Amino acid sequence: MCGIIGYIGNNDAYPILIKGLKLLEYRGYDSAGIALINNENLLSVYKTKGKVSELETFISQKNISGTTGIGHTRWATHGEPSQANAHPHYSSTETLALIHNGIIENYSAIKEKLKAKGYSFQSTTDTEVLILLIEHIKISNNLDLLNAVQLALQEVIGTYAIAILDKERPDRIIAARKSSPLVIGIGNQEFFLGSDATPIIEYTDKVVYLEDEEIAVIQKNEPLKIVTINNEPSNPAIKKIELDISQLEKGNYPHFMLKEIFEQPESLFNCIRGRINADNNHIALSAVIDHKEKLLAARRFIIVACGTSWHAGLIGKQLIESFCRIPVEVEYASEFRYRNPVIDEKDVIIAISQSGETADTLAAVELAKTRGAFIYGICNAVGSSIPRATDTGSYTHVGPEIGVASTKAFTGQVTVLALLALTLSKEKKIIENSIFLETIKELYNIPEKMKEILEQNEKIAALSQIFTYAHNFIYLGRGYNFPVALEGALKLKEISYIHAEGYPAAEMKHGPIALIDNEMPVVVIATNNSLYDKVLSNIQEIKARKGKIIALVTKGDKIISQIADFYIELPATLENLDPLITAIPLQLLAYHIAVCKGMDVDQPRNLAKSVTVE
Ligand code: F6R
Repeated sequence: MCGIIGYIGNNDAYPILIKGLKLLEYRGYDSAGIALINNENLLSVYKTKGKVSELETFISQKNISGTTGIGHTRWATHGEPSQANAHPHYSSTETLALIHNGIIENYSAIKEKLKAKGYSFQSTTDTEVLILLIEHIKISNNLDLLNAVQLALQEVIGTYAIAILDKERPDRIIAARKSSPLVIGIGNQEFFLGSDATPIIEYTDKVVYLEDEEIAVIQKNEPLKIVTINNEPSNPAIKKIELDISQLEKGNYPHFMLKEIFEQPESLFNCIRGRINADNNHIALSAVIDHKEKLLAARRFIIVACGTSWHAGLIGKQLIESFCRIPVEVEYASEFRYRNPVIDEKDVIIAISQSGETADTLAAVELAKTRGAFIYGICNAVGSSIPRATDTGSYTHVGPEIGVASTKAFTGQVTVLALLALTLSKEKKIIENSIFLETIKELYNIPEKMKEILEQNEKIAALSQIFTYAHNFIYLGRGYNFPVALEGALKLKEISYIHAEGYPAAEMKHGPIALIDNEMPVVVIATNNSLYDKVLSNIQEIKARKGKIIALVTKGDKIISQIADFYIELPATLENLDPLITAIPLQLLAYHIAVCKGMDVDQPRNLAKSVTVE
């Protein structure tokens, strides 16, 4: 979702801002803009609808300079994607310029109030309302910008990460956050600002994550100053970020998504490394060990997540229930937070989020906290909001995921959930040692098996060409592979815009089978496990209605591979680790179909990587 970049120092701001905006493209956006204060203290705003490259072309015709600036990529919420609605927004006197991530919920009441005072609006955004409110408070009370921002933010309801330039103070950027992340990078006599650390790491690894309702006064040649919106001073906690810049580049791959699919053998290894001992006979997921009393005493676990992370949660439920015999519920965070759930201090919440910033998941965590539940986070983005809001947790350590469609984060989440279930069941002393050891050993084998599947990339690419005609797809799976069917369908729809549904295979005959005809591709996860014969029957039912079967089978399969129209052979693994294998060909299938259709794979329409609004 929207991205923020800022710079103040002794270098030209524009190259840093434009590069930063390009690095933020992965978050999803539909317009972009920049504001700069030049050497004659003129404040200028440049913005365009569309891609950052269009903004770059637009600005290339201008004569720009300045060492203080802010930039923004906007993902439309209030008002269509357009130049007028793009950020930055000027104040009415054009002395201030503001960029904003988040939503001002009471913007309409504030707008009416400002209209009554004679203000007019150039855009339909909630953001313009905020900068006009700040300006109004500043002028009518004759205040410094910082105090005006404090008073304005006390009045607004909603979420924000903002940065403001003031023509009268070219040496300063004012920034603030509430429920929308903001990171300040501390360089050598210069500061950077980002909605995440991605555009900053090239310049510095020293960062400060702003907390809710904190305002940063970022001033040239001065130490960073932080105060709250109520004017209480706050000490900036400087953290070191460990991120490798090469992880933010595509290398030789045409898309980040393909790179990230291919990274999975390594990312999975990174996820288990250090958590399984050298002799392969012990797992130490430190957060589980450190909080085992709390976790073992849990009446039940409630997993809250959205999208792909929710699918990982469905697999986690099966892993935890079967290994630990603790009941697990899996909830869409967006529903959980609004339905007054029965939850108390005997419950443990597991919040799963790649970005660690998903607004609904964060709100579900906050709600559960108020009811006294213990909160465990499973996140990928280090230092993001959810890990900071939880009692404990485990990172997936799969490296930054840039492609909007989640791939390696999913397999990382499933792996952490498997490690969690194994560690806890060992602590609970209910897992047979032979099963414990066999599962650990197999987890170590998974990266090699993933490589075997990736070798079939060309074959899957060729298969994909056959299906670009399709307007619908059905994905079927059972047991541990039912959530993978949901995930396969989600991958296809989000990047190829083909309608796809995932079902538990046996549910077909309760309705969806009516959709089957000779044009309907049906992807069936039919690997060799305890439900193989059941899935075989489900395949026969589809075959009888002439559906086109694409089956995922285990290497050496002699039955389903003969019945299916097309099949992909996969290495055998344990049934409960199968999702780590079966997810990969479905990611590749979705990727190649989208590429064949000429879609923007890494930045599909309407989607954002980090969903920071509810
Ligand atoms: C799908 C996808 C989304 C995210 C969802 C939650 O490919 O990426 O469905 O999984 O928006 O995001 P996180 O995991 O960051 O909370």
